[in-house]
Amino acid sequence: MCGIIGVTGEPDALPLILGALHQLEYRGYDSAGVALVAGGEIWRARAADGTHSVADLAALTADAPRGHAAAIGHTRWATHGHPTPENAHPHVDCTGRLALIHNGIIENHSALRADLVANGHTMTSATDTEVMVHLIERFMAEGSDLTAATRRMLGSVRGAFSIAVICADEPDTIVAARRSTPLVLGLRDGTAFLASDIPALIGHTREVYALADDELAVLTPGHLHVTTLEGAPVIPEQLTITWDLEAAQKGGFPDYMSKEMDEQPLAVATTLLDRRGAGGELILDELRISADELRRIDKVFIVACGSSYHAAAVAKYALEHWVKLPTEVDIASEFRYRDPVIGDRTLCVGVSQSGETLDTSEAMREASRLGAKVLVVSNVVDSSMARHADGVLYTRAGPEVGVASTKCHLAQIVALEILGLFLAQIHGTLTAPEIGEILNAMDELPALMTRTLSRRREVDEVASKLTDARDFFFLGRHVGYPVALEGALKLKELAYLRAEGYAAGELKHGPIALIEPGVVVVGIATRNPLWEKMLSNIAEVHSRGATVVLVADDGDEEAAAVADHVLWVPPTSPLLSPVIGVIPLQQLAYRLARLHGHDPDRPRNLAKTVTVE
Ligand code: F6R
Repeated sequence: MCGIIGVTGEPDALPLILGALHQLEYRGYDSAGVALVAGGEIWRARAADGTHSVADLAALTADAPRGHAAAIGHTRWATHGHPTPENAHPHVDCTGRLALIHNGIIENHSALRADLVANGHTMTSATDTEVMVHLIERFMAEGSDLTAATRRMLGSVRGAFSIAVICADEPDTIVAARRSTPLVLGLRDGTAFLASDIPALIGHTREVYALADDELAVLTPGHLHVTTLEGAPVIPEQLTITWDLEAAQKGGFPDYMSKEMDEQPLAVATTLLDRRGAGGELILDELRISADELRRIDKVFIVACGSSYHAAAVAKYALEHWVKLPTEVDIASEFRYRDPVIGDRTLCVGVSQSGETLDTSEAMREASRLGAKVLVVSNVVDSSMARHADGVLYTRAGPEVGVASTKCHLAQIVALEILGLFLAQIHGTLTAPEIGEILNAMDELPALMTRTLSRRREVDEVASKLTDARDFFFLGRHVGYPVALEGALKLKELAYLRAEGYAAGELKHGPIALIEPGVVVVGIATRNPLWEKMLSNIAEVHSRGATVVLVADDGDEEAAAVADHVLWVPPTSPLLSPVIGVIPLQQLAYRLARLHGHDPDRPRNLAKTVTVE
């Protein structure tokens, strides 16, 4: 899972490459590198400094040659080989006249490496990637040009890849190709670009094209020539770019996470926009699946990873209540390897803010193969999952750069609930006035979210009392349960504290043995159908010495009576309450991360988009 950028036709591409690598850091940042053709040679620099690799790379390139031709850059999240400078991309061949960057995994790299080494090639890294550049070297030595040698190389490798390769003998050319991982192309006057995703190109061009699986592109200044891997010409699909660079920057906040938490009301409001027709009925224009097809649906699967899975878990409660359809939620990496019972009347919903997560996209591919109608909820317009699904529903949260999902997560809950209401409308399980009433309550959410966000200082104060705590349980029931899961995930990934999310009723079946003084229990005690039972579960842990922090509705003194600290939230209807209840938990995790000295935008070992298994 890496970020890729390439440019040809710019007299001084280095600042552009470094800027794009900064934009791409959310794809991984444990190492970074650049290679360019200058004076008939390949010049290369690489850095591997955990979270500051791109900044280090900028320092290393201070004395790079100017006036160069093609250039490529890479920011890495390690899969094969430790994050060291030797393993950082670009990788070069034995002659040093070829350089290659790669996102993905080459599955047959061991056999290829053994063969290359036996035939005299010297490998200098532990990566799966390096074999590709040596294979190109081999084929060029046999007489192929760069494009033909790359094609032959791709015929020898198995796995997932987006690659870009440059050669000192063809100074203005970049050859790029993809299979299963994303790659976009761009054009502007005399310049041609490639990148792993769109934000890297914002500010440089709006003429952007998607490279499809098993396509190869030859970039020369101002030109793109796209073919299949076999060489048949292809007209690439042009994409619509609606984001500007400003939208992808921090806008005065100390970090992306703060900025993106603050943008949550807007993200939800925008996701709700223009969903009602003249008669008040719900309309989902972009869905691409007809009402007739949706009427046939008799089962729903919602499949996702991480925070997106937690959004899916909230939606299960809403769909079962509103649509009365059996609704299963599953983790994508499990779903795709079991035998889910799916038929042509199943709707399979993949939830992925990036639309690129490999586990989820492969799960959708499997669902499609099994005959399901596949619908994707994504934040990225024209993401590869969005393009391959039967239908799509976009969250409209804008780019999310913070590694830990915030605004996209809440927008996903809202989008999935809109989908639930749409299905209820089609299946006739809710009347038009009932749907209208729920939509009206949804329209109130942005204002309630703003009110909740404004209480950040009260959350900070609670956090300051928990700095010595190392063990946290997050408990909830009904929709409070996925909220608890999300709160625990945020605390783990940002503050590196042990945090378990549990269904509160399950605690007495084992985990309660871990409750003792010093353990913090964060309970979701907003009013839902199981609120009373939730308070009983909280009383059980309080009496065993846990420090209790409760998320509770404004003025709920009964809840406050069993808590040491309360995170007050404005009440809303139970099925919508996760959109509010998650916010203080994000703020708590953020503040504890800061108090422990961690940068919330750069949680260790993580990357924003996970395009490996
Ligand atoms: C956690 C987080 C991740 C993502 C997960 C899925 O804060 O952001 O758990 O939710 O990696 O990513 P997408 O939604 O892009 O498929």
